Amino acid sequence: MAKQFLRIHDTSFASRPALDIGYVKKMKDLYKKLDKFHNYVIDDHLDRRKADKDHFVPKDVVDVLLQLAEDPNLEVKLTRDCIKGLFQSVAQTPSATTVEWTIHELIKQPRIIQKAKEELDRVIGRNRWVEENDFSQLPYIEAIIKESFRLHPLATFLAPHYAIEDCNVAGYDISKGTTILINTWSIGRDPNSWSEPEKFLPERFLGKEIDILGSNFALLPFGSGRRRCPGYKLGLKVVRTMLANLLHGFDWKLVEGMRVEDVCLEEEYGLTTHPKVPLQIIMEPTLPNHLY
Ligand code: HEM
Repeated sequence: MAKQFLRIHDTSFASRPALDIGYVKKMKDLYKKLDKFHNYVIDDHLDRRKADKDHFVPKDVVDVLLQLAEDPNLEVKLTRDCIKGLFQSVAQTPSATTVEWTIHELIKQPRIIQKAKEELDRVIGRNRWVEENDFSQLPYIEAIIKESFRLHPLATFLAPHYAIEDCNVAGYDISKGTTILINTWSIGRDPNSWSEPEKFLPERFLGKEIDILGSNFALLPFGSGRRRCPGYKLGLKVVRTMLANLLHGFDWKLVEGMRVEDVCLEEEYGLTTHPKVPLQIIMEPTLPNHLY
């Protein structure tokens, strides 16, 4: 299933003209498969709700979306297609991949985990979870996320961009119609922009205003320009909340027999880049019981 989703994601990006290499048929075929899968998930959730009757409790995002769809006061009606679109975005899990990479890096460096937990204890305390409006006060967590985007951009190559007119970028003439491939992976590891570029070192971002939304060409996790990721706000919110709460609420331990040196940072390439070897860790709760 995961591989199928990766293929779906790559094919979705293929809607750009520069990638028009016979993908249209593949996109149509995938749409059919995906639609069948989405209908199955929605019907399955509706059946459970029917069976549970008055005892029904929403268990996941699909349950919540289906409940919202019935709200007559919604300004914009949530149709079945809207629900499919929303959980497709979630299913592609760009944010989860970023968190996955971050866990791979952090588990190798307990001192960073320690420092992050100290920040969380100081700012949040032990009696609640981290919320969206806490993030302005969590610079170290923010630095960890930026460092993760630098070393592990989701799109190693941005989906191809296409010059719609003649232009000049940094002294280079680019003719109208040129396909431009931008290697964000090597940009993030360029020694002219970053000292010790291969090291995972969140401290490099502390006390500095380093933009990640497209205006700083040394770090482009969401791309840049008109085709910049439109989901960046949601993506960032999900990454921040997920990572901060995993750090705040759990101690992370490698499964028995696994050593830090065994954690593999090899990449599995596609238009999005995932860890080649999934990591298994044990999460031990550390906050008071009533919070879980
Ligand atoms: C951490 C999370 C995310 C990262 C790192 C990320 C990264 C990217 C990148 C690098 C691109 C290509 C931009 C370019 O070519 O200049 C892109 C495009 C896109 N992203 Fe995201 N993304 C994330 C989350 C999301 C979310 C949550 C959504 C949807 C809700 C989303 C929807 C899209 C779409 C539709 C495009 C294609 C835009 C186009 O072709 O014009 N992304 N994303």
